[in-house]
Amino acid sequence: MLRIYCTENYEAMSRKAAAVMAAQVIAKPDCVLGLATGSSPVGLYQNLAAGCAAGDLDFSHVTTVNLDEYAGLDGTHDQSYRYFMDHNLFDHINIDKSRTNVPDGKAPDPEAECRRYEALLASVGPADIQLLGMGRNGHIGFNEPADTFTVPTHVVTLTDSTIDANARFFASRDQVPKKALTMGVGAIMRARRVLMVVSGPDKAEAVKAAFAGPVDPHVPASILQLHPDVVLVGDKAALAGLVETGVEVCV
Ligand code: F6R
Repeated sequence: MLRIYCTENYEAMSRKAAAVMAAQVIAKPDCVLGLATGSSPVGLYQNLAAGCAAGDLDFSHVTTVNLDEYAGLDGTHDQSYRYFMDHNLFDHINIDKSRTNVPDGKAPDPEAECRRYEALLASVGPADIQLLGMGRNGHIGFNEPADTFTVPTHVVTLTDSTIDANARFFASRDQVPKKALTMGVGAIMRARRVLMVVSGPDKAEAVKAAFAGPVDPHVPASILQLHPDVVLVGDKAALAGLVETGVEVCV
């Protein structure tokens, strides 16, 4: 089932999506949260940090599993996803960092690291909520458009479109890593609930293709049509194309 919430802007999207995550943490204090990086969830994370500072949210029993990490960057690199998570969320909430998991981008054998991470995902159990953003090319995690869906955690070669989109965070395009480690669609689809946040007109086409087009590995997010519980929270610019198709939208 897909529930769609359309908000006025990024701030309202972030508040609404944070409420979904907060409800999960309150209902099940020892839940497993699947987390994402990128610009889409930053506001959501700020709302969660504010909830924790206000004493409304307790993360001390929460376990987290992140979707992905760049190959070749260690956690002290300011563009690594470990660094992102520490700075945007973990350093601002009362989480036990030993319960926070991000693939190790510096592992000497990335394939072995993918196997280790997949075993870890199995041992902590399915995420109660898996948070996702979506790339302009429809990617989720770093599952890039391809001829088939890849199920386990794996090493990917990033597409030019993804490198272009992420170059804004690096001193130059050349510095964007060319490979990444990412959860496959297996762990994403095993999550009990998927929460996707999308913002801005750049995402409108991908959002429409993912939720109103066929299930197709060339639009990786389209696999979410087969998931039983997806909450899509987007601002009206990102949802414009999908809304035009006449889908039901919650208030
Ligand atoms: C990040 C991730 C990516 C992003 C996507 C959208 O961990 O897995 O799939 O969610 O690239 O990025 P933003 O939010 O920056 O537009």
